[in-house]
Amino acid sequence: VTIFVPRDAASLALGADKVATAIAQEIELRGLDARIVRNGSRGMAWLEPLVEVRTTTGRIAYGPVKAVDVAGLFDAGFLSGGDHPLCLGLTKEIPFLRQQTRLTFARCGVTDPLSLDDYRHYQGLKGLERALAMSAPEIVQEVTDSGLRGRGGAGFPTGIKWKTVADAAGPQKYIVCNADEGDSGTFADRMIMEGDPFVLIEGMIIAGIATGATKGYLYTRSEYPHAIETMNAAIAIAREAGILGASVMGSPYAFDMEVRAGAGAYVCGEETSLLNSLEGKRGIVRAKPPLPALKGFLERPTVVNNVISLASVPVIMDRGAAFYRDFGMGRSRGTIPIQIAGNVKYGGLFETAFGLTLGQIIDEIGGGTATGRPVKAVQVGGPLGAYFPRELFDTPFDYEAFAARDGLIGHAGVVVFDDTADMLKQARFAMEFCAIESCGKCTPCRIGSTRGVETADKIARGIEPEKNKVLLADLCNTMKFGSLCALGGFTPYPVMSAMNHFPEDFAPTPLVEA
Ligand code: NAI
Ligand code: SF4
Repeated sequence: VTIFVPRDAASLALGADKVATAIAQEIELRGLDARIVRNGSRGMAWLEPLVEVRTTTGRIAYGPVKAVDVAGLFDAGFLSGGDHPLCLGLTKEIPFLRQQTRLTFARCGVTDPLSLDDYRHYQGLKGLERALAMSAPEIVQEVTDSGLRGRGGAGFPTGIKWKTVADAAGPQKYIVCNADEGDSGTFADRMIMEGDPFVLIEGMIIAGIATGATKGYLYTRSEYPHAIETMNAAIAIAREAGILGASVMGSPYAFDMEVRAGAGAYVCGEETSLLNSLEGKRGIVRAKPPLPALKGFLERPTVVNNVISLASVPVIMDRGAAFYRDFGMGRSRGTIPIQIAGNVKYGGLFETAFGLTLGQIIDEIGGGTATGRPVKAVQVGGPLGAYFPRELFDTPFDYEAFAARDGLIGHAGVVVFDDTADMLKQARFAMEFCAIESCGKCTPCRIGSTRGVETADKIARGIEPEKNKVLLADLCNTMKFGSLCALGGFTPYPVMSAMNHFPEDFAPTPLVEA
């Protein structure tokens, strides 16, 4: 019998190691023939640690399991899928999972992340095998045709970025995977690195073959120790198996990669700042142009792609561009791993085709707030994303639809707030966050954010609130158009959306002079 206990950081934080130890003890005590596989997470945070048992009818899930529940589970015959109050039935039938379209996350939570046999068994390396039979321009064309756009947030077409690098002259080119997942409420990159590391390695190799790059770097943050450990182990296994190295799977192509950990500055997720950090310099933003695609790491042509963009490439190469682009709406093709977080009943990772409305995501999939109070606002796209009120819940999850409503889908994190949230405090927080994380290179961001905090404080204290609201809007305008990068340039989104959609929170009682 095979028992699955996740090794993902979220489940570890909720006691998965203790549960695994308790299960191992029960197996030993009862003299049973069973083994434990430490899988990735299925992405249902409220059910973690989610333990599964493989039975003849399929995998049966139990959760959330605590170490103290384990003996009772064995008593209830859980090894053969026995009934128990924690039993959730067949894993694949859990509504949150059943409603998803898992392409990029197809294996996450299903396989042993470090088993290459498991990886191959579940379609792994099929995309790379197909790529090896194609010419480099054909691979670039396939990715372009799939409609894949940058999943880090900006949504730039991946195929076009690859073409720029492929066409650039240079003795050495690089693939840099941006795994510096810094947006609040996001965890998709981490889940892939911890739950299906080979898919990311496969995606990076394909990017290398397509563009002529032979070396890859995975840049992540030191706050992700489990992801770093899993990626390093997977890279060693892939190298041992001849997937990485001087000859990729016996082909004439060479590709190798390594993991680099940054110290966890938000701005190091910005690609040029990341490249500086990777070169051992201070994480300060570089002016663009030149684009990293032409002058990136060590001034060489460099592909900088987010984890999810790269991890989506193997399925595109395996199933074909047409298969992938069939999902989605408008110019947003394929699937997007939405990360539902904050004050929400069912938080977790939900991979689906673009096009669900925000209301469906929050009310139907997320089940509303965890506190049971009405949803007041949803921040979409990380700390630089706009706050959406219920009146905008008909917005479909699509790059253009969000932009049309002064928002962004960013890295697809949604953070839910109930009616106790004070949106003036949230606006102040956005300015404070920018002030703390600013790299300091340009004035609107470095100085503007600090003035923004002060101005928000004046409004809160009732000091000339009308004048200060105009001032805050003016400041946002300067930051939006005068900042060098998205940190200063996008901080106005949360601030202005809070002010525009929740004016009541910006109308404190004016101070009455004694
Ligand atoms: P951008 O629009 O400047 O660039 C997007 C990408 O396209 C970059 O990689 C750029 O180098 C590339 N590019 C542009 N023109 C090109 C061309 N002609 N050929 C080849 N490549 C080209 O956006 P930026 O500043 O890179 O990213 C901003 C986004 O980052 C925001 O939308 C935000 O949502 C997101 N973000 C994500 C975070 C996360 O944790 N994942 C954190 C903070 C922001
Ligand atoms: Fe640095 Fe802020 Fe300017 Fe970006 S906007 S370059 S983080 S000072």
